[in-house]
Amino acid sequence: YNVLFVGSEATPFIKTGGLADVIGSLPKAINETGDAEVSVILPLYRDIKETWRKDMQTIASVEVSLGWRQHQANLLTYVFEGVRFYFIENDFYFGRDGIYGYMDDGERFVFFNKAVLECLPHLYQQPDVLHAHDWHAALSVALLKTFQSAPSIKTVLTIHNLKFQGKMEHDAFFDLINLPPKHFSGFEWDGMVNCLKAGLFHADHITTVSPSYAEEIKTSYFGEGLDPILLERANDLSGILNGIDTESYNSATDDALYTHFQYHPTLKQANKRFIQEKFGLPVRDDVPLYAVISRLTEQKGFHLLTRVASEFLEQDVQLVVLGTGESRFEHDFTQIAEANPTKMVTKLMFDEQVARQLYAAADFFIMPSKFEPCGLAQLIALQYKTAPIVRETGGLKDTVQPFNEYDGSGNGFCFSNYNAHDLLNVLRYSFDVYHDCNRFSKLYDNLTGHSFTWFTSAKSYVDVYKSLCRAESYELV
Ligand code: GLC
Repeated sequence: YNVLFVGSEATPFIKTGGLADVIGSLPKAINETGDAEVSVILPLYRDIKETWRKDMQTIASVEVSLGWRQHQANLLTYVFEGVRFYFIENDFYFGRDGIYGYMDDGERFVFFNKAVLECLPHLYQQPDVLHAHDWHAALSVALLKTFQSAPSIKTVLTIHNLKFQGKMEHDAFFDLINLPPKHFSGFEWDGMVNCLKAGLFHADHITTVSPSYAEEIKTSYFGEGLDPILLERANDLSGILNGIDTESYNSATDDALYTHFQYHPTLKQANKRFIQEKFGLPVRDDVPLYAVISRLTEQKGFHLLTRVASEFLEQDVQLVVLGTGESRFEHDFTQIAEANPTKMVTKLMFDEQVARQLYAAADFFIMPSKFEPCGLAQLIALQYKTAPIVRETGGLKDTVQPFNEYDGSGNGFCFSNYNAHDLLNVLRYSFDVYHDCNRFSKLYDNLTGHSFTWFTSAKSYVDVYKSLCRAESYELV
């Protein structure tokens, strides 16, 4: 099957979050199954570097109309590590810094989705399945189904984050999307145009990035207002766990690390000393090092951690926070670190190499998310033999099993209520385990057991494509 991924970001070209990692690494894994061939289409943002641009080839130019607006888009292509990427070029909408955050984001992505459909006839291979990711691409599914210009193309929509939906005033439907009024209800939610809802309503199949999140979003607590439609579509909704690129995130070969290691905790310790030195913390082997590597946003549960961090730091521990995000969390983490200079460091930055060094150095990785569709950081932490401390939600629940000191099972620490003191309790428990050689070495052994490759998930996506295309051939018979 030929599959076209439609999305807004993908490594190595452009990234703000986990979505880019998935769109950047899943196609290769699916292609390796030999059962499907995925290519990817993205906007050509100004921030996509010249090193990539210089080898891109322009293969077509199309007209895109958004109501009274008439724009041109160029279609470019480039093959990276065996995967064909297409790019939609239009300087008016994408010749700007960054990816999101503009007043006219709605219009920009309506344009992108319309341009994708206009470009379909010019692709090297016609897709059997159009597979869109998140709200930025969801309209491509809805438009394809509405125009019926190519009814044989099946559609899949993957939800990476339900919180962002692409809402616009209702007149955007007439002004930008510009379809006959009879289609309005398929694009509308709560009186507004809602791109994600339009995709959920029209897609042949819906997936999200973990089985637990697939269940959670059918409830009002996690549904972000869209739970009624997700319930309605429950038979066509499934959860497929994300993987990570385990060749890149490999403690035995990662060049970013101070020392490579695999099974020996002593080699991991060398990485810890390196980070302690780098960040000006006391260089000691016998103190547990806790790490946070994250966008500092509400989703990630930092209300809980900022609430109890000072109390936790009364113990003999070290904590490093690495990331950028909402100013309230940047401010709180900076203040707590300033009050505890020998125990905590806050670095308001993101640097891939430092992140990898910190994953490798830490004993524990804290991720108390309020909600988490899948979460990749806990999977990366596990690759570096760092025990995740997580709230039991979404993908965190599906990938981290609480350490059980009686039977020695489990690869991390979990708490379930969104409550700061429950987090403090597990933090304290992890501290006790750290200081008990017996229990800690059992936990450490469990960290080396399993890795979250894309292998199984890639097969699950292929199964989805197969069942959709098979259903189509029954219809034809
Ligand atoms: C979003 C979600 C995260 C998920 C990622 C990739 O960033 O918040 O949980 O892992 O998408 O699917």
